[in-house]
Amino acid sequence: MTQANPEDPRAVRLVELVRSFGAERDLDVLLGKIMDAVTRELGADRASLFLYDGEKDELWSKVAQGLDSRELRFPAGKGLAGHVARSGEVLNVPDAYADGRFNPEFDRQTGYRTRSVLCVPLRRRDGAVIGVAQALNRRDGQPFDAADAARLETLAALAAVAVENSMLHEENEALFENTVLTTAQAIEERDPATSGHVWRVSAFSVALAKAVQERAAEFGQSYDRDRLRQLRYAGLLHDVGKIGVREAVLTKARKLAEPAVELIAERLRRMAAEAGTPFAGSEFARAVELVRRANEPRPLSEEDRAALGALRAADRLTEAECAALSIPKGTLTQTEWQDMRSHPERSFRVLSRIRWPRRLAAVPEIARDHHEQVSGKGYTRQLKGDEIPFDARIVAVADVYDALTATDRPYKPAIPHEKAKGIMDNMAKSGELDERLNALFFAAECFKAPKG
Ligand SMILES: [Fe+2]
Ligand SMILES: [Fe+2]
Repeated sequence: MTQANPEDPRAVRLVELVRSFGAERDLDVLLGKIMDAVTRELGADRASLFLYDGEKDELWSKVAQGLDSRELRFPAGKGLAGHVARSGEVLNVPDAYADGRFNPEFDRQTGYRTRSVLCVPLRRRDGAVIGVAQALNRRDGQPFDAADAARLETLAALAAVAVENSMLHEENEALFENTVLTTAQAIEERDPATSGHVWRVSAFSVALAKAVQERAAEFGQSYDRDRLRQLRYAGLLHDVGKIGVREAVLTKARKLAEPAVELIAERLRRMAAEAGTPFAGSEFARAVELVRRANEPRPLSEEDRAALGALRAADRLTEAECAALSIPKGTLTQTEWQDMRSHPERSFRVLSRIRWPRRLAAVPEIARDHHEQVSGKGYTRQLKGDEIPFDARIVAVADVYDALTATDRPYKPAIPHEKAKGIMDNMAKSGELDERLNALFFAAECFKAPKG
């Protein structure tokens, strides 16, 4: 590109526009910038920009609405814009309502009154029309002139390059999105017992972040679409490290597997049948019952623990069996817990191998820190309070809520919503969860977020 002559303000402005368009990856934002430039440079009252969808033979445009946007579509042949899209001609219409090609539908819908229209095609490098730029109503009331048309054509040429780039970028994004979703699906299939977990955690997390955004000043945090996407991906991938955890540990429903329990029962029966042993009748039945009861993931009572010790002392249980059955809470032995607790670090290692674009660079870190606790008693790094990334604290709240209320875990029944809230409020008080985020999660009803 040739350097602009600093004497020529128009050339300087053009260079600025090239920079500004070129820097914009987000198609919606770019379309807004182009429309602003058209309005300003042509002294028009309004501008519109339509892109051509060849597959559907439609023209479409996006209207920004907060963090989201709405799409407008109509058949490509319709109206002045449609004519330009089809013919590739530049149209300069001083009085729209006097022109049979004009489609007054938009005016009727919006209450706007179109008078003069200048309309030019956006062409791709190979000449194909990819859209249409329109300037409406010159502010001084005059019709647009040849100089305006030349100006709009220049803008349209710049815009076309930027739009093409941005569409390529969006294709890239879609590819990335696809990879993330496929990986999330793979995690789900690895552990069917937690099916839907990562989708729910991701949706709850995004809902909570949006609620934070509404109180941006209070929380000192702000979310744009990139940060929301980063969080959504982190939610989908936070447990990816579970792929490295042994299946038997991951899906363990009881302390001992059924065959092992049968073996014990059989041994006890044999012992009871042996002549001269006092271990018979109801005592035998009680022992089998104890083993079955202790094998469940429920917390173990002191009496049962002592009774197991007695069976061990009488050599009716092996050391390993007694140790497994005496797990006080849940089903995992110490070693198995260590294995399970390694999953955030494993998630980090897996995700760090992906070359994330800069705006998504925190995904591995958010995943690694989703089991940290504000009190410093979590894992993997024992971070405290603000040391834990804000987004990881969000995922932690979403994760705990889903773990409590999910209906399909093998090792525990689902807990009803109200009870889960009580448990989480206590966890927040004792520093296991971020107190403000936990409160907001329930206040803003983030748990109702549909799977996104
Ligand atoms: Fe986890
Ligand atoms: Fe999780």
